[in-house]
Amino acid sequence: MTDWGHRAVSLLEKLADCSESGPGVTRLPYTPEHRAALDVLRAAMEGAGLAVSLDAAGTLVGRREGPPGSKCLLVGSHQDSVRQGGAYDGIMGVVLPILALEKLQDEGANLPCTIEILAFADEEGVRFPTALTGSRAVAGTFDPSVLDMRDSQGGTLRDAMVSFGLDPDQIAELSRDQADVLGFLEAHIEQGPLLEEEDEAIGIVTAICGIERHQIVVTGETGHAGTLPMAGRRDALVGAAAIVSEVDRLGQTTTDLRATVGALSVEPNVVNAVPQMVKLSAEFRSPSDETRLNAGQAIHDFAQAMAAKRNLKIEATKTYSQMAQPCDINMSNRLTEAAQKVGASGLKLPSGATHDASAFADLCPIAMLFVRCRDGVSHKPEEYASPKDMDLAISALSQFLKSF
Ligand code: GLV
Ligand code: MN
Ligand code: MN
Repeated sequence: MTDWGHRAVSLLEKLADCSESGPGVTRLPYTPEHRAALDVLRAAMEGAGLAVSLDAAGTLVGRREGPPGSKCLLVGSHQDSVRQGGAYDGIMGVVLPILALEKLQDEGANLPCTIEILAFADEEGVRFPTALTGSRAVAGTFDPSVLDMRDSQGGTLRDAMVSFGLDPDQIAELSRDQADVLGFLEAHIEQGPLLEEEDEAIGIVTAICGIERHQIVVTGETGHAGTLPMAGRRDALVGAAAIVSEVDRLGQTTTDLRATVGALSVEPNVVNAVPQMVKLSAEFRSPSDETRLNAGQAIHDFAQAMAAKRNLKIEATKTYSQMAQPCDINMSNRLTEAAQKVGASGLKLPSGATHDASAFADLCPIAMLFVRCRDGVSHKPEEYASPKDMDLAISALSQFLKSF
């Protein structure tokens, strides 16, 4: 009898090797590591009897036809990782449904609908200051202006796609007709501690948080650290530090708000010169769109007050936002039934991370299956889901896939 959990482990290990060197997994979109992962996924999809193609946004699509005229159930997640991230975030949500389909194929099950498994190029938004590229393309909400966004090397998203052999001008053609789609299902590592605390291997997601990201550029005036008097200094890093503290204060004092400065660069970044310019990010997440929007406005207001107080120039720009998305009740009930059939309780929990599923809410009903992760750890090399839990998730997914 096939041990599906260990099949998942060996596939995920192969995929973890498709990484830049260094701790954990670093697999950014439209890179040689992405290409290597697509080769592994293509072979696995073909092994599960899927017809495989790569779409114009770099999403690998594995399709199994259902009865003639049947609608399509979309299932998937992202291939990309954060820098020095784990081996499960995203990619596990591609591997598990592939194995669920292979399991159904081994069992000789007849599928009631067409199924497509999608491995999206870029969900994390680590390389370019945008995210959910492939899922938005399929959902019909891709904004072509993001093609001009640049990575840290100065290259545009458009050029990265073209070098990868894609035709970004075809992305607009990828959007699906609502009438053809049954829904979108994503399996994902929980990235939090709730399932572990409740001693549950898998759970059903109720809603995905909303997110907004800002870039803040603080400009002051550099000078000799030993001779420039303290009075009247226009130190960009001192202004930026106040903003970092304010972001944290907002997060600490506002219910259901996560507030983070995750990236910061200093110029000239030398030990004996007053900082001239600081660029920093500010990210806010909440299940309440109002809470998140208020936090974003509050940090813009604070930045302007800090500019006046310290005689700095501060430009704050919202670079990204997505609304909070509840999961569809009917699809989630169907997923709960599938989970209960394989012995899980069907525990319900919210998601503080974002997911490709949130983009699909604009097209069709969405549902998400979470898999327990050790110590709630994610976006780190230590991220881990056990073979036993993945085995149960594969069983639940196969129940779900044949339930339509
Ligand atoms: C992606 O994992 C995110 O939540 O930012
Ligand atoms: Mn992630
Ligand atoms: Mn993810």
